[in-house]
Amino acid sequence: MSKVLEIDKLTRTYKSGSGSLTVLDSVSFELMRGDTVSIVGPSGSGKTTLLGLAAGLDAPSSGRVVLCGHDMGSKTEDERAYVRNRHVGFVFQSFRLIPTLTALENVTVPAELQGRKNATEEAMRLLTEVGLSDRMDHYPAELSGGEQQRVALARAFINQPDILFADEPTGNLDSDTGDHIVNLLFKLNETAGTTLVLVTHDLELAAKTGRIIRLKRGKLESQLDSRTDSQLDSQLDSETDSETGSSHV
Ligand SMILES: Nc1ncnc2c1ncn2[C@@H]1O[C@H](COP(=O)(O)OP(=O)(O)OP(=O)(O)O)[C@@H](O)[C@H]1O
Ligand SMILES: [Mg+2]
Repeated sequence: MSKVLEIDKLTRTYKSGSGSLTVLDSVSFELMRGDTVSIVGPSGSGKTTLLGLAAGLDAPSSGRVVLCGHDMGSKTEDERAYVRNRHVGFVFQSFRLIPTLTALENVTVPAELQGRKNATEEAMRLLTEVGLSDRMDHYPAELSGGEQQRVALARAFINQPDILFADEPTGNLDSDTGDHIVNLLFKLNETAGTTLVLVTHDLELAAKTGRIIRLKRGKLESQLDSRTDSQLDSQLDSETDSETGSSHV
């Protein structure tokens, strides 16, 4: 089994007024090929920050990220972009589709960057799979939030990434569409061996992944193996009771 992601003492600090604010504090973990993990924790605990650093979109204040064998700290921005295009799929919490491109063009871009000849056909197949065969020529502004989210997922899938990061991948979807998207994510994991890193407030989704990493105020509070850890049910139960009274954290 090969190591896909190695994160070592990752710290991110922002300057704020007179002092500095540490939003991620010495977080370390490793993921192997085919692993599935959810990152959970309250709003503002550093989940999106961690995802951006792990995918090489942002640079840490200190600590190390090794992504598919590439030490991201020693790379230029262009080199990091190359590693991302080759190995990473990323679904942003706010989608970040290119507004001047249609849904089909948005999904096609990462495959065209690799010079793939069948980019358009593959993008059409993926958009059909996420239920958007009749929206391919729409621009992002002409799509609902859930439709934009599905375009973003199709874009993240197109290069069959080694690792896929998704920030609240079902956050804007009704439960049927959400279930369908979750099935697609796990199908990608099973068929292509893609490592999944999902930020979610949905504990049912979190329980489907092999591991659950919990952040609290920027620190890694716990790491549970969902398949073997008997604490999982009680932890999920207590969270459901204490935090919101629903199945969301
Ligand atoms: N550019 C920035 N400058 C200063 N502080 C920032 C910046 N970006 C994020 N933060 C702070 O970092 C903390 C963590 O933010 P982050 O977006 O990672 O949280 P999160 O766990 O993803 O929350 P949510 O569940 O609401 O999406 C927040 O307190 C936020 O205010
Ligand atoms: Mg977030």
